[in-house]
Amino acid sequence: MTGDVFSIREARPDDYAAIFDLTQRAFAPTPYASGTEGHIVLALRDDGDLTLSLVAVAADQIIGHVAFSPATVGETNGAWYALGPVSVAPEQQKTGVGSRLITAGLDQLRGLPASGCVLIGSPSYYGRFGFTRCDGLTYGTVPAEYVQGLAFTSMSPVGEITFAPGFDVQPK
Ligand SMILES: CC(C)(COP(=O)(O)OP(=O)(O)OC[C@H]1O[C@@H](n2cnc3c(N)ncnc32)[C@H](O)[C@@H]1OP(=O)(O)O)[C@@H](O)C(=O)NCCC(=O)NCCS
Repeated sequence: MTGDVFSIREARPDDYAAIFDLTQRAFAPTPYASGTEGHIVLALRDDGDLTLSLVAVAADQIIGHVAFSPATVGETNGAWYALGPVSVAPEQQKTGVGSRLITAGLDQLRGLPASGCVLIGSPSYYGRFGFTRCDGLTYGTVPAEYVQGLAFTSMSPVGEITFAPGFDVQPK
């Protein structure tokens, strides 16, 4: 399949089981999988913290999903959001699905309005969306290059990130 034969829309209740399966399946082969990624999406939703939940759909199948949730950033005032988990079905990866999901989500966040977005992830992937290492932006002992921010205004994210409680969930 090419990267163009899919559409992006907000998740609906009848997508939730597929989103869980997809998320677990996407992360399972990665060296950084915790096994909790699908559970994190469930917990964010249960807690009312799934600000944005977008799916990529091809031939009536869910092939990708991205979650955005509220986050706090140190003492920074403003409305910050966390990106993730983001998942693309293993057989559909590297066809532009993840990029379209992330770009669509960031466009929607900008309209909320929001101060910006933060995440823990690969600089080589997220740099293409404008995320950068930000001076003073931290998350525990995670190396600084993996702690990234994208400010939508002149206010930079500075301080320790606190993600929504759903990120601390354990598998049931
Ligand atoms: C990461 C992920 C969401 C990217 O989505 P995708 O649809 O495969 O990626 P896209 O087609 O939009 O972009 C492809 C590019 O991303 C790069 N890429 C994909 N996964 C990457 C990763 N984990 N780290 C760094 N780069 C990555 C590819 O090498 C490719 O680079 P290129 O454009 O320079 O050739 C998807 O690969 C995935 O679900 N991975 C497993 C779960 C995961 O790791 N989630 C993110 C955790 S931070």
